Amino acid sequence: MAEELGDPFNLIPPEMYAHFSGGIAGYGSLCGCLSVAASAIGMVSDRETQGKLTQELFKWYKDEAHPCWTPEGEEEYPREVVNSILCHVSVTKWLKHAAEEFGERVEFSGEERGERCARVTAATCKKAIELLNAEADGVFESEHNLTDDVEDCMTCHGDEGDATVTHGSDSCLECHSDVDISDDHGGLDINEMKDKIDQIK
Ligand code: HEC
Ligand code: HEC
Repeated sequence: MAEELGDPFNLIPPEMYAHFSGGIAGYGSLCGCLSVAASAIGMVSDRETQGKLTQELFKWYKDEAHPCWTPEGEEEYPREVVNSILCHVSVTKWLKHAAEEFGERVEFSGEERGERCARVTAATCKKAIELLNAEADGVFESEHNLTDDVEDCMTCHGDEGDATVTHGSDSCLECHSDVDISDDHGGLDINEMKDKIDQIK
């Protein structure tokens, strides 16, 4: 785009994204390729469209069995759905799964892990472009949902609920296990709360 369109795209230093790896500066938070893709979407679309396309990209990411792209002629890697947009969760779930498939522990600092993240980045970049193109052609449709637990928990913890209000769309149960949830809900786990959720809805 810098070459074809020039200003302002030729004024963006690509180095500003270099530290996004490792969940932003190695912090293990938002998967770095999602941060960069979200910024790229923001560069070329209005606020409402940015929100819509970025949400869809994130939901796609948590649903996809990564890495879903393999460079031509290379061996396909084991794939795993990670149900999170967080680098730490995404990488560690894959490492555990890959160890089963490769038959030995895959080291975090090993070559396979780096290659896996590079493939995830390439696929995420492609997906972001597909979403932008679909929007530009007027054919964008959301194909992914939030994880079921988010909708369930937000029945009570969302802005309209009666419990402590929180915001967020990443799977609640990735962090709040049924065990600590149960302590907070009179011994009930999320399945035992389904009746209550239905009543409230
Ligand atoms: C049927 C309504 C309901 C549902 C569904 C529900 N909660 Fe709660 N939750 C409550 C109430 C009421 C409390 C008590 C304190 C409050 O008002 O936040 C609570 C407390 C909590 C607390 C402790 C809050 C604090 O102030 O320390 C956490 C954490 C929590 N819920 C997480 C979750 C998660 C995660 C889910 C989904 C798996 C969930 N809840 C589903 C009603 C609900
Ligand atoms: C990345 C991990 C993570 C995710 C994902 C997450 N939470 Fe939390 N949540 C925490 C931590 C850490 C705390 C603070 C410590 C605690 O109270 O357990 C917290 C606190 C809370 C509280 C207590 C707030 C208060 O004011 O006392 C509620 C309610 C809650 N979370 C609900 C949710 C719901 C609903 C979701 C899903 C939409 C969710 N959380 C997703 C980690 C997470």
